Amino acid sequence: MRNKYRKPTTLPCNAGSRCSTSLVLWSLLGFLLFLHLYSYICNRDTNGEESRLHVSHHPQFRELQEVEEENIQVPPPKGKRSPRAEKRRPKPKRPTTLIDEFLDENSQMRHVFFPGLKRAIDPTQAAGNDSYYYYPGRIWLDTDGNPIQAHGGGVLYDKSSRTYYWYGEYKDGPTYHAHKKGAARVDIIGVGCYSSKDLWSWKHEGIVLAAEETNETHDLHKSNVLERPKVIYNEKSGKYVMWMHVDDANYTKAAVGVAISDTPDGPFDYLGSHRPHGYESRDMTIFKDDDGVAYLIYSSEDNSELHMGPLTEDYLNVTSVVRRILVGQRREAPALFKHHGIYYMITSGCTGWAPNEALAHAAESILGPWETIGNPCIGGNKMFRVTTFFAQSTFVLPLPGLPGSFMFMADRWNPADLRDSRYVWLPLIVAGPVDQPLEYSFEFPLWSRVSIYWHRKWRLPQGWSRFK
Ligand code: DGJ
Repeated sequence: MRNKYRKPTTLPCNAGSRCSTSLVLWSLLGFLLFLHLYSYICNRDTNGEESRLHVSHHPQFRELQEVEEENIQVPPPKGKRSPRAEKRRPKPKRPTTLIDEFLDENSQMRHVFFPGLKRAIDPTQAAGNDSYYYYPGRIWLDTDGNPIQAHGGGVLYDKSSRTYYWYGEYKDGPTYHAHKKGAARVDIIGVGCYSSKDLWSWKHEGIVLAAEETNETHDLHKSNVLERPKVIYNEKSGKYVMWMHVDDANYTKAAVGVAISDTPDGPFDYLGSHRPHGYESRDMTIFKDDDGVAYLIYSSEDNSELHMGPLTEDYLNVTSVVRRILVGQRREAPALFKHHGIYYMITSGCTGWAPNEALAHAAESILGPWETIGNPCIGGNKMFRVTTFFAQSTFVLPLPGLPGSFMFMADRWNPADLRDSRYVWLPLIVAGPVDQPLEYSFEFPLWSRVSIYWHRKWRLPQGWSRFK
């Protein structure tokens, strides 16, 4: 009340002083705005410098970003094929595409998609300059000389042993159809585990979570489905925690399973399964944030949307917090990563074992909102780019010595013989402007482009690991 009648503390002013007050105010505002923009640009420049340092000035790094074209021709459609293959093929309603060829087990191009062994990727033969090269899509042998069985997998970096562990579906069994219209499947064998110091030569550590052979009511009975296992380490409990997609042969159970171990190379004890937050859960992944909070991300509501929510402190369960994201977009195979405080995710469409177009998504906060920022694939040819190089995302692993660079891990499924599915590992780089910037902060997009570069043969640049 007193203030109501208080004399103004500022002196009454004439036109000139009013003008100078507003001038001061506007200059102050302008200065603040300039400061904000300046710090933002500096920030971008620092990030840019980081990218320049690693991306442009490093000759080996430049190699990763070279756009490598593929000139693969679809063979003549009819008549010129072998009569047997022609008979088995239903009359095409539309021109044959590379996807048709990819899915045709009798295709003349089979060797293009599923090439045979090359000595250089055989770590038992590795020597000289030709070692440490990745050949996406080729058979990849472990250090015992056996094809690696870690499909739909993910990699854990174990700090205490400075070792990478690759976990995935061990599918070294016959492919069959449980019933006429059912998807191609391999009985559960278990989760394969491989260890490596260099992300290139992998030692088989065994099956760290095995199928149940006799008890038909067990989640992991061999007649069921165990897919996309991922492992994270819980600092508080000292346990390695594995989450996986657990299902019946018809994919109607739609649940997640959890297992734990005291050591990264297992054995893991299976704790059971549930539908997270009461919802269907099929393709899934887990992501551990810098602050130690871990999240479950899963395709739900008949794969029409993704759900995302934090796990409990021990990582053994979900909490009551959950968000629906990419609603109505029908995405699966999520693979999450983080760069400069922004969350990124690669997903695939839902076409069974057949390849489809990957999309990259970005968010300032992990629980959303998430924006779709386009197809990340670069190189190959158009067909390669709209099929994620004939593969499907499974994991994105940060390369600690090269900020902004990641290992993109994908599966090139072979539905005719799932055990012979291949791995497509390629460099993923977060840098440069996005194709379709949707979110802006002071005229600058909030996030950078996610690019996955196709290479027939490539290697990691020196210094990719801080610990080498
Ligand atoms: C696509 C999924 O991403 C795979 O993990 C697997 O569930 C297949 N569908 C089964 O058709």
